[in-house]
Amino acid sequence: MSPVTPAGIGAILFTADEIAETVRALATRLARDLPPEPIVLVGVLKGALFLTADLARALPAEMDVRLDYLAVASYAGARSSGDVRLLVDVGQDLAGKHVVLVEDVVDTGHTLEFLGRLLAARKPASLRTCVLLDKPARRTVDVAVDYAGLSCPDAFIVGYGLDYQEKYRNLPYLAKLESRVSEG
Ligand code: PRP
Repeated sequence: MSPVTPAGIGAILFTADEIAETVRALATRLARDLPPEPIVLVGVLKGALFLTADLARALPAEMDVRLDYLAVASYAGARSSGDVRLLVDVGQDLAGKHVVLVEDVVDTGHTLEFLGRLLAARKPASLRTCVLLDKPARRTVDVAVDYAGLSCPDAFIVGYGLDYQEKYRNLPYLAKLESRVSEG
């Protein structure tokens, strides 16, 4: 049975099952590569809220996994210029820790580049980037993604943490936004 989609939502690109399978595959790769030491998953709010939580639970239970979050914003309309700023910082010292930066989507690459530099300056033992959705057609910065889950077309995508004017983050699937008119 097809999932119900609210008004304004178009084609479903990835179902909840496909997302879950992708998250499991990312966790398998991370578990294989990470050392047997404490790791810190750093999720980027708000988009990576669900991915970070699901990834943490998909990692082997015997791993020592710590969770943290940070929040960033781009000045309105200025994302393509890379004007990213930190709104909320992590709550722990990352020096000497194995850090995995968890992002829902890499688009132009400015956010990942900014956060890569920011976290590298904290002197972690290692720093990896893990992204659910890669939009390669939109990239303006040559930024490295260590673990990418799904490649997707250059469309406005919502669901599983991704929003349009703060709506649709709660949808369990990833879908195209059909119209950008409503703001209720
Ligand atoms: C989205 C996403 C990334 C960023 C990627 O965040 O979560 O952080 O954009 O874009 P870039 O590669 O062009 O920098 P958004 O500003 O929509 O905030 P949100 O996570 O709170 O939805």
